[in-house]
Amino acid sequence: MINGPNLNLLGVRKPEIYGHTTLADIEAALRAQAAKLGYKMSFMQSNHEGDLIDAIQAARTASAGIIINPAAYTHTSVALHDALESAELPVVEVHLSNVHKREPFRHHSYISPQATAVIAGAGAQGYELALAFLARHLG
Ligand code: DQA
Repeated sequence: MINGPNLNLLGVRKPEIYGHTTLADIEAALRAQAAKLGYKMSFMQSNHEGDLIDAIQAARTASAGIIINPAAYTHTSVALHDALESAELPVVEVHLSNVHKREPFRHHSYISPQATAVIAGAGAQGYELALAFLARHLG
């Protein structure tokens, strides 16, 4: 699971939009869910685009799939689009908020063309839905 910029501030950053759950809470829930499903998960968050690209490139050979919330890079990053394309893995793009209900600049995603599935607006639960989907998708 890869999380982009400012998501380290979940729980304190605009809780009316992103909720009160912290990233640590989300990771703990997903770790438990993955164990039940028979998968091992690794987690990273970075505020730096290059670190996110490195993580995607590492996943290419080490992982069965990627859950990613690219945060603001969703709307700007051709580099993340290209990294995901090269990874050739199932990808679930997650957004806590419903980006389509928000400012127009959040309506376009460079990531969605590379995503197997997109989940937006389900809050922290979106990550759990992403993992449930991915596990079933992988069989
Ligand atoms: C976000 C939505 C993005 O537009 C925003 O820049 C974020 C978080 C979400 O999870 O709702 O940082 O990806």
